[in-house]
Amino acid sequence: MESNGCPYVIDRTGSDIQAEAARLRELGPAVPVELPGGVPAWSITSYALARRLFADPRVVKDPRRYWPAFVDGEIGDDWPLISWVKMDSMTLVDGDDHRRLRGLVAPDFGPRRIETQRPLVERIVADLLDRLAEHPAGHPVDLRANYAAPLPAQMICELFGVPEEARLEVLHGLELAVDTTLPPEQAAANLAHWQVALRELTAAKRAAPGDDMTSRLVQAHDRQGLLSESELVGSLFNVLGAGSETVMNLLTKAVVALLSHPDQRELVTTGKVSWSDVIEETLRAEAPIAQLPLRFAAEDIELDGITIGKGTPILMCLAAAGRDPERYGTDAETFDLTRSDKEHLSFGYGAHFCVGAALARLEASVALPALFDRFPDLTLAVRPGELEPPGTFIMNGLRSLPVYLTGPPAG
Ligand code: HEM
Repeated sequence: MESNGCPYVIDRTGSDIQAEAARLRELGPAVPVELPGGVPAWSITSYALARRLFADPRVVKDPRRYWPAFVDGEIGDDWPLISWVKMDSMTLVDGDDHRRLRGLVAPDFGPRRIETQRPLVERIVADLLDRLAEHPAGHPVDLRANYAAPLPAQMICELFGVPEEARLEVLHGLELAVDTTLPPEQAAANLAHWQVALRELTAAKRAAPGDDMTSRLVQAHDRQGLLSESELVGSLFNVLGAGSETVMNLLTKAVVALLSHPDQRELVTTGKVSWSDVIEETLRAEAPIAQLPLRFAAEDIELDGITIGKGTPILMCLAAAGRDPERYGTDAETFDLTRSDKEHLSFGYGAHFCVGAALARLEASVALPALFDRFPDLTLAVRPGELEPPGTFIMNGLRSLPVYLTGPPAG
């Protein structure tokens, strides 16, 4: 493994996620990078190495134990990725604490329990499609704002009993948390802001518990003492945040892939491949989390000639791993619904494997076929190259997705 030791400065605006992932992969399976704020880290770009390190007990998640720069106060609240390291949640702890916090929510997200939510997903989808159909024909409609964003946001707010009037507040804070172009003072203000919004939510559930996951977490805190107050808020932030933007990215990228590959669209709309093939191939080729922050080396880790030094942050470049030719062959870049290798790392791997994978798959498996059934002439309203990224190097999404629902206007 070769490296010239000179860090690659990550484009914090995420202006071309796939081009950057490809460049990083060319530099090697593990690449020294510089994160915003001059923070040194490693980005893991190969499928095989990412999978190996996901399962390596020397690769850990707790910044308060394993990241000296954080412990020493060098990483301030104004660091653009602060909400990824400063919350008390399952995703930032290891071992017993991880099992304890994950165990409080994971049962609600198991595949069988989640399948019981299908009628709710279908209802939300049908309602959103009806509203889309009200748009005047021949005018572009933003499918991100009117379909891909509200479905997962409404779902997660239903599951967590977030009252209608608090939804915008909570979701806006979570959206800002993945914006890596925010000026420092805004990053810090956002961190404070979401904490207040989520504390208000827990207070409301304490006063009037409901049959929802927030109320169950509040009870686990109040009655059983299974988690601290800050773990309660952190868990909510973690699950609410993880459950919205990721699914939105999956939906928008799947729609763009189908609309820009008519042969692939025909394969699925004529039933030659399944919608599950569409979902898994989109997850592989367009990993919704492009650069997964952060893990840390608990000790020096030797990898065929390079050393990831103890205490150094590690990002899994899932965008690069998903298109790794060593795993997927020379056509790894191609969106191919007939690909036989359906495995990918886009939901992670090992102990921290995505809690919400079944929910994400359920939402997409309802939303995508329903959209293409209802609007068989759906067309992009701009060329694929004109679609703009949202201003983050962590997420692989779109700022907007303009489409014509009933085909391009005549003339
Ligand atoms: C397409 C959609 C989604 C993608 C691509 C995705 C991706 C991921 C990935 C890569 C991880 C691993 C994190 C790590 O190892 O550091 C993860 C963890 C997690 N995801 Fe998802 N996710 C999605 C949807 C959801 C949904 C809908 C929820 C809703 C509840 C959710 C909740 C979580 C939680 C709580 C974790 C932390 C698990 C842990 O640390 O043990 N995700 N997700």
